[in-house]
Amino acid sequence: MPEPDSKLIGRKIIRLPEVDSTNEYAKRIVQDVPEGTVVVAKRQTAGRGRKGRSWTSPEGGLWMSIILKPPRVDPRLVFVGALAVVDTLADFGIESGIKWPNDVWAGGRKISGILTEGKAGEYSILGIGLNVNNAIPEELRENAVSMMQFTGRELPLDAVLERLLFHLEGWYRVFLERPDLLMAKVRERAFILGKAVTVTEGDEKISGMALDILDDGSLLMSIDGQLRRILYGDVSLRFF
Ligand code: ATP
Ligand code: BTN
Repeated sequence: MPEPDSKLIGRKIIRLPEVDSTNEYAKRIVQDVPEGTVVVAKRQTAGRGRKGRSWTSPEGGLWMSIILKPPRVDPRLVFVGALAVVDTLADFGIESGIKWPNDVWAGGRKISGILTEGKAGEYSILGIGLNVNNAIPEELRENAVSMMQFTGRELPLDAVLERLLFHLEGWYRVFLERPDLLMAKVRERAFILGKAVTVTEGDEKISGMALDILDDGSLLMSIDGQLRRILYGDVSLRFF
């Protein structure tokens, strides 16, 4: 009898002492590994955020990428990562929320960032960076925070990884079968709704009120009484 398809995410885990970027590594091996393979590195020498921004990844943090092969490239995959991070933080007693489109914040600072990359019909890579025990460099301290700063003690990285994989499994299934429910949870966890925000899209700066996150993952804004939908893409968001 075939094995029941009980666990997808983390059925294979590749652990690396050091890598340029787990997302880049994942892209290099995507053809040779099963879906659900996780790449996790102790440190990254060229960790990346969106728009080629650098992501600081010293030892002590959780830097990982999951290789997925969903039926289509869907921008809402980023929320699978964000919800799983929020739930993982809650497991360790840390309250957090989603800053649309791709960050998780706790106590007014960024604790995690998510970078999804995909090739239509081939793969999607879900990259997650979570500050756990790692030091936050001086220049980021005003805006970035680690789990250890909340708990006051080092956390076992493997236990954090185990909780994260557990929650990713659950939210990925919801994403595949009921993306509407996934988005309902994102709305519940998003802390920017009802706030004045400025979104930068290319050269355009759009200021208004963040009203809602729609089922397609876009942000609904009210700008001088007019509604405008901002698609997830290379947009930046600031709130006051
Ligand atoms: P937005 O998401 O609205 O565009 P952002 O500043 O969060 O704004 P991202 O591209 O999502 O931009 O994230 C990259 C940024 O995250 C970097 O420019 C840096 O400021 C910050 N950053 C880098 N490393 C870390 C880290 N380990 N923890 C928290 N923040 C970090
Ligand atoms: C962002 O906030 O812009 C996203 C940051 C994503 C960082 C993670 S760490 C693991 C994976 N590898 C990378 O180079 N980036 C993502």
